[in-house]
Amino acid sequence: MKGLIFTSFLHLVEKEYGLDMVDELIAESAPVSGGIYTTVGNYDHRELIAMIAVLSQKINLSVGHLTKTFGVYLFAELIAAYPQWIADLDSSFALLAKVDGFIHGEVKKLYPDASPPSFKCTLHTDTRMEVIYQSPRCMGDVAEGLILGCAAFYKEKIIVQRESFGDRGASSERFLLKLITPPNVAIAAH
Ligand code: HEM
Repeated sequence: MKGLIFTSFLHLVEKEYGLDMVDELIAESAPVSGGIYTTVGNYDHRELIAMIAVLSQKINLSVGHLTKTFGVYLFAELIAAYPQWIADLDSSFALLAKVDGFIHGEVKKLYPDASPPSFKCTLHTDTRMEVIYQSPRCMGDVAEGLILGCAAFYKEKIIVQRESFGDRGASSERFLLKLITPPNVAIAAH
């Protein structure tokens, strides 16, 4: 997995818990890479999972909760790194619909060694979208956080209902998204 994901995680840990915590996570999870990540390098995603597990024990928050929180933060880091890919998108559903075919496609063009997940969106109505996430890296919690980070970026409220299917490692996740119309839009419509 791309180093950008790791550096984003370590930025978040540093911001919330300080540099000493970053050092402790690296020391205790003992990543093969030595914990030195460059944004464009490629690393074993299990190093990230191991660091999240160590952090979870240290601060007594669940792995799921921490991973989702990281996903929310990661969205902001991704769009800061690649603003050109989302420049003309003006809502969460517009962006989400572009992730699989366009955004992750651009990731692959830029980094042929990258392995972004499959992320198939079906728009059922103006306010309901179904998303199927599939990845051998089983990062459904990161995906959920990214969806919530995307909604926050567009100042929208989206309710996410989720179910795992396929194998028990949750390599496939179905998200049902319900967009709650922002109050200002409702007022403007009258
Ligand atoms: C909210 C919508 C998005 C979702 C749900 C999503 C989902 C994910 C997930 C879960 C991963 C981790 C790898 C895996 O699961 O196998 C990933 C990787 C990645 N995504 Fe997305 N993504 C979204 C939007 C974006 C955006 C907006 C960008 C860039 C502007 C982006 C660029 C990347 C990159 C660079 C990787 C790393 C690929 C690799 O490690 O090889 N994604 N995405």
